[in-house]
Amino acid sequence: MILAKPTHAVVAMANNGTIGRDGALPWHLRADLQLFRRLTMGHALLMGRKTYESIGKPLPGRDTFVLTKQANLEIPGVQTIRTIDDVYPQLGTKILFVVGGAEIYRQLLPLCQVIHLTKVLAEPVGDAKLSPIDLSNYRCTEQMYLPANAENDWPAMYQRWER
Ligand SMILES: NC(=O)c1ccc[n+]([C@@H]2O[C@H](COP(=O)([O-])OP(=O)(O)OC[C@H]3O[C@@H](n4cnc5c(N)ncnc54)[C@H](OP(=O)(O)O)[C@@H]3O)[C@@H](O)[C@H]2O)c1
Repeated sequence: MILAKPTHAVVAMANNGTIGRDGALPWHLRADLQLFRRLTMGHALLMGRKTYESIGKPLPGRDTFVLTKQANLEIPGVQTIRTIDDVYPQLGTKILFVVGGAEIYRQLLPLCQVIHLTKVLAEPVGDAKLSPIDLSNYRCTEQMYLPANAENDWPAMYQRWER
């Protein structure tokens, strides 16, 4: 699999590697959701079939590509694809954002040129987990602290990493 065009990833990950629980996010972090919306608006999202099912609908203002191995799966309002290579001819000038879940990140995170990483400063229980992301070939070009409050379960640190 070759990522032929600049590709970003957006991932929120707790200190213990947790990214999901019971098919959903294990936290409510409004600031991070707003950041996700701002980053991806007008562009294209690539997600695994299970993450799409947890969202349940196409996100407005973005093209959604759902990776699946099922030959006949069709979902109204999104493009189902069998390999990431199917995305590029349809991308135009839009940036492709890899947005999870765990299976997809494991395959594609190491290939992304830019990683938008929200470090959730907590240790929640979860069943979707990632190993620490190898950022040795990336540099951090932006960092922003997101405090906990009534709309954000945990404090978090957003970081933009560029290869
Ligand atoms: N914290 C975050 O930033 C974040 C972001 C997104 C999701 N999540 C969480 O992550 C969890 C879901 O992750 P997950 O690992 O269970 O599922 P997933 O990565 O969302 O989806 C897995 C599915 O994607 C398809 N797939 C995977 N690799 C493929 C390939 N090479 N070619 C074609 N299809 C492929 C398969 O679909 P088929 O079975 O249909 O073949 C597979 O079952 C949820 O808890 C979700 O809330 C967290």
